[in-house]
Amino acid sequence: MSDEGTFEYILSRKEGRVGVVQLNRPKALNALSPELMDEVMTALEIFDRSNDVGCMVLTGDQRAFAAGADIKRMAVATPVTMLSDPFIDHFDRLQRIGKPVIAAVSGYALGGGCELAMACDMIVASESAKFGQPEINLGVIPGAGGTQRLTRAVGKALAMEIVLNGRFLSAGEAMGHGLVNRVVPVELYLEEAIKLATEIAERAPVAIRVAKEAVNAAFETNLQAGLAQERRLFYMLFSTEDQKEGMTAFVEKRKAQWKGK
Ligand code: CAA
Repeated sequence: MSDEGTFEYILSRKEGRVGVVQLNRPKALNALSPELMDEVMTALEIFDRSNDVGCMVLTGDQRAFAAGADIKRMAVATPVTMLSDPFIDHFDRLQRIGKPVIAAVSGYALGGGCELAMACDMIVASESAKFGQPEINLGVIPGAGGTQRLTRAVGKALAMEIVLNGRFLSAGEAMGHGLVNRVVPVELYLEEAIKLATEIAERAPVAIRVAKEAVNAAFETNLQAGLAQERRLFYMLFSTEDQKEGMTAFVEKRKAQWKGK
């Protein structure tokens, strides 16, 4: 971030209650340098703390969501320089964001770009989106969750082909295999992602955060532990004003007014 508090590699804006973060390194197809990743996470963290924002959208441009980690920088790396490089740690920062983050993907989502989209909570794709983990062509493997999140999303057989043989998935294929939520024409993908984010941002804020936590727990725990966590979170929500308001509004046949309390 510069001294003026503006970002160098991303654009960040608010549309209603939606925080929009756009990767802005188009000449390098939004290659993910550590500096760019730091700015992305900083912007998301600012929105996560803001009471005026209920949901975030992370996007690139029409040609590329992101073509991966910055290969030019990595070419000369050693295990020791990689260890002290914060690049992959930034993905952990994304996992700590409490509000939902929707990736709006058009064009290339490759390597770290695909991993970044998969680390978000939902993906809205344009018809031109291409998902892939081509690290094998560089003599390495995915390092920011590609072997894990992709396999959980599309299953072992297809993940093996994508990771071992550099196969790209079209938007339609990604939809068919459950990697993305919806596919829309190129000119509409960002609008559609913001529309979805706006709907989520209008819902009960505490319940939304808790719902995200509960669904994510399904990937981290066995069924019994996940069910127990869900039940605790469910009971906990009965301490919120929004639960009283939501149920009273239903009984009174009116629209609920959420307070986020
Ligand atoms: N890192 C750095 N620069 C990149 C880049 C990347 N990942 N991807 C593209 N660029 C740069 C190119 O070097 C080029 O810059 P110059 O004009 O200065 O030469 C510019 O972006 C445009 O790219 P191309 O000319 O290659 O565009 P194209 O349309 O011919 O091809 C592409 C597009 C198929 C996406 C191709 O750029 C490509 O294969 N990119 C690399 C994809 C990749 O391997 N990603 C994985 C990276 S490793 C990783 O991410 C590890 C991890 O898991 C964390």
